[in-house]
Parts: sequence; C-alpha cells; structure tokens
Amino acid sequence: MERHIRRFLNKLSFASIAIATLILIFLFLQTPQTCIPPNSPSKPHLKFLKSSYDSTPRELVSIDKKNKRLWSSNDWKKKLSSFINFFQSIRDLGLLHNHTKFICVSAGAGPKVMALSHMGVHDVTGVELIHRLFW
Ligand SMILES: *[C@@H]1O[C@H](CO)[C@@H](O)[C@H](O)[C@H]1NC(C)=O
Repeated sequence: MERHIRRFLNKLSFASIAIATLILIFLFLQTPQTCIPPNSPSKPHLKFLKSSYDSTPRELVSIDKKNKRLWSSNDWKKKLSSFINFFQSIRDLGLLHNHTKFICVSAGAGPKVMALSHMGVHDVTGVELIHRLFW
C-alpha cells in the first residue's frame, strides 16, 4: 500500500515537473505585453537608447514643459519652501548673496537649484548624472 502511494506521488511529481517545464518554455517564447518596441512611433518618449553613446536627435522639450507636473506637486512645493527657508537662513548670516556663484552637484530634479533661483541668486547651476539644469 505504501509503495503504491509512493509510486503515485512519484508520477505526480514527474507530471508537475513536466507541466512546469512546458510553462517555462512557453513563457520564454512569449514577448511580454509590457515590452514596448524600441522604435514605437506612438510613444517616442519611451524610446530606449541603443547605447550610452546614442546621439540620435531627440525632440527638444523645454524644461518648463518637461517638469510641469513635477513642479505643481505638493511634495515639490514643500521641498522648495523648505530649501528657500534653509537658504534664507544662510543669507541672513551674510554668507549668500545674489551674485554668489553656485554649483549644485547631484542636484536631482533640482529643488535646491530652483530655490536659489527663486531667491534671486543669479548664477546657479545644478548638475546631475543624466540631466544638467540651468537657471
Ligand atoms: C536678490 O534678488 C531678489 C530677487 O530678484 C531681490 O528681491 C533682492 O532684493 C535681491 N537682493 C539683493 C541684495 O540685491
């Protein structure tokens, strides 16, 4: 009886392995529907770079248009206000002036750069690994 059950379980295991293998092969052969073809004309902003040196021209979008949604978010406004308060305290100490040249390395999306610019600092440059932000 016990031997009979063992055989049955072995057959069940082999059947499960076979089904799992077939499903795996099927999945390998499928292109996921979330993949977007690289040259898809309907979504040019999702065009993938062919390499890190890809220099094919891309549509130029103004920085205002590109960041409109980000800049209208509450999170951004809070960060901006926080940095303006922080830089204002530095200005109050006499360490920051409108003519101070400022470079912000690893600026991210640029809330510090925008804060300084809004405060009237003339020469602010933010540098990020991918983006370079000018104000
Ligand atoms: C700095 O610039 C801001 C905004 O343009 C201005 O309100 C402020 O008076 C300027 N400060 C000085 C010391 O010029």
